[in-house]
Amino acid sequence: MHARQIAEGIYRIGANITNGDLFEGMWPIPEGVSLNSYVVWGEKVALIDLVRDWDEAPSRMREQLDSIHLPVQQIDYLILNHLEPDHTGWLRTFRDLCPRAEIVTTPKGANLVKSFYKITDRVRAVKSGDTLDLGKGKKLVFEEIPNVHWPETMVTYEPSSGVLFSCDAFGSYGSVGAEVFDDELSSAQHEFYERESLRYYANIVASFSVFVERAVQKLSGLSVNVIAPSHGIVWRKNPRQIIDRYVRYASYAEGPAEAEVTLIWGSMYGNTEKLVQAALSGLKEEGVPVQVHQIPQTHVSYILASAWKSTGLVLGMPTYEYRMFPPMAHVLDDLGRKKVFGKKVFRFGSYGWSGGAAKELGEITAKYKWEFLDPVEFEGAPSDKEYEGVKQRCKELAVLVKKTARYSR
Ligand code: FEO
Repeated sequence: MHARQIAEGIYRIGANITNGDLFEGMWPIPEGVSLNSYVVWGEKVALIDLVRDWDEAPSRMREQLDSIHLPVQQIDYLILNHLEPDHTGWLRTFRDLCPRAEIVTTPKGANLVKSFYKITDRVRAVKSGDTLDLGKGKKLVFEEIPNVHWPETMVTYEPSSGVLFSCDAFGSYGSVGAEVFDDELSSAQHEFYERESLRYYANIVASFSVFVERAVQKLSGLSVNVIAPSHGIVWRKNPRQIIDRYVRYASYAEGPAEAEVTLIWGSMYGNTEKLVQAALSGLKEEGVPVQVHQIPQTHVSYILASAWKSTGLVLGMPTYEYRMFPPMAHVLDDLGRKKVFGKKVFRFGSYGWSGGAAKELGEITAKYKWEFLDPVEFEGAPSDKEYEGVKQRCKELAVLVKKTARYSR
């Protein structure tokens, strides 16, 4: 693959991770993820963000530097917007290959360069508003955007081109092939990256939504022509699209989101399962879209994406040993860690000789600010009364969701 030119003297360098590893050691990326770096070339040369030694990413980077006839030893500055090792894991080797390059990062970033890589020399700490003149009309302006995604994070802006190197902000999962720019993608590809940007947001960024809103506000004074993130495609035709998408995702943090429901269910012997269709039928009668996830078969990465986007949740699970069906407890714990708060929720499920799921559900979700409808809980197999009860309650939930959703599409 060749480096792609974004503007005169500005190039995108990308490596796809497709070896089946989990992102952050926990999130599936069956369609891969790209690690993007950028070159800004004036009289001096800056490389913005690095890679980890992962699925041959350093080799991909060097091939693309070769494609623009830029030996790694010629790099004057390495800009580290963010120290998470997906963007810095190769730093020790890079420093050995190019000891003259000065590392430029925030003060907190400099501390992480020291703690992760034991490097303290030729490290420059910059703060919001600081600039670096590369010559030939190219300049870099730094702006801290703490907690998008780690506390040390900053973005880098190049005023002559209007390119914003936004690091994790405005990124997505998904490998990037020959089509790097938004205007090169088919509508199917756009749909794919939209799905994967939501899942990326829900998995990686959701907990920091308030900081996303602050960052967007802070950057609103910049004249941005191109969004160049560290994962995913480059937005040059319509950068506003990905900014607006992130603003919308961040707004879900308060609870009311899309007029949709996520149904999460698990069953031991099929008695709870028998009511899933009743739940779907109630939601369908009210015309509310629903995404269904069976647990433990579905990875929580996907459940987080749809739960984050939904205003309503339906939980179907039996009691297990006087407590909740354990896979549901795990999912609910993860929803709390990612701050899926403020939802409208209905629960149904069976028990054998004693209930108990309700008590644990209350304990786990005590701080989630969830509003619960009355549950339908039953001993053994469901009767017609429970079929009707679940359907009716789901209709009530759907009405509530339509009334309280922030967006109706
Ligand atoms: Fe892509 Fe937070 O690192």
